[in-house]
Amino acid sequence: MKQKLRRIWNVLSHPRLLRMALSGLGAALCDGNETGTLSDEERVALSSWVRASGVGVFVEIGTLFGFTARSVKRDTCVRTIAVDNFSWNPFGLPPAQHEAFTRRILEGSAVELVKSDSVEFLSSFPGVTPGEALVFLDGSHAYEDVKRELQLCLDARVAVMAGHDYGNESFGVTKAVNECLGNVDAVVGSCWMKRVFEC
Ligand SMILES: C[S@@+](CC[C@H](N)C(=O)[O-])C[C@H]1O[C@@H](n2cnc3c(N)ncnc32)[C@H](O)[C@@H]1O
Repeated sequence: MKQKLRRIWNVLSHPRLLRMALSGLGAALCDGNETGTLSDEERVALSSWVRASGVGVFVEIGTLFGFTARSVKRDTCVRTIAVDNFSWNPFGLPPAQHEAFTRRILEGSAVELVKSDSVEFLSSFPGVTPGEALVFLDGSHAYEDVKRELQLCLDARVAVMAGHDYGNESFGVTKAVNECLGNVDAVVGSCWMKRVFEC
């Protein structure tokens, strides 16, 4: 473990190594299944759902490195809030480095990055009117966690709910979504979407 951390630190503290790591990261991110991030098809669908739903705010729960939030902001211009507790990333970066890297990716993008646990954020929606929001769930994929997040969204009367990894039986997402919301309105790749309340 110590060795692994030393290797990561070596990469992060040398600009040339960091550039090489980032180009490897770029290649890895092309494969959404490897990194937990969205495919191009899924990102396009998500932006079109945000535009078509007429919401004024997009909230991504579980932003990882911010690529999805950045692309939705660029495509739709709606207020975009990216939430993450920096508990997981596919490269084993320590949370502080993960956060710093994500902040760097989002620099100048006008995406608001909030370091928070999903439950804490969704319990209060700081500074957001939930009825004007599309909330995209892609944090924890455990059944109980997703159910809790969905229930908090329902309690807050979030207008449109969406998420990732629907149909992937190794996660608890599909069961939680079906039980809480019934049929979804649309599925593209493994992204799902449902309008729950009118804006
Ligand atoms: C699969 S990745 C998200 C991928 C991202 N949506 C994208 O499109 O690139 C999951 C992220 O959720 C975060 N996460 C996991 N559980 C969380 C929780 N309870 N609250 C907030 N973030 C969480 C992890 O730190 C990780 O960055």
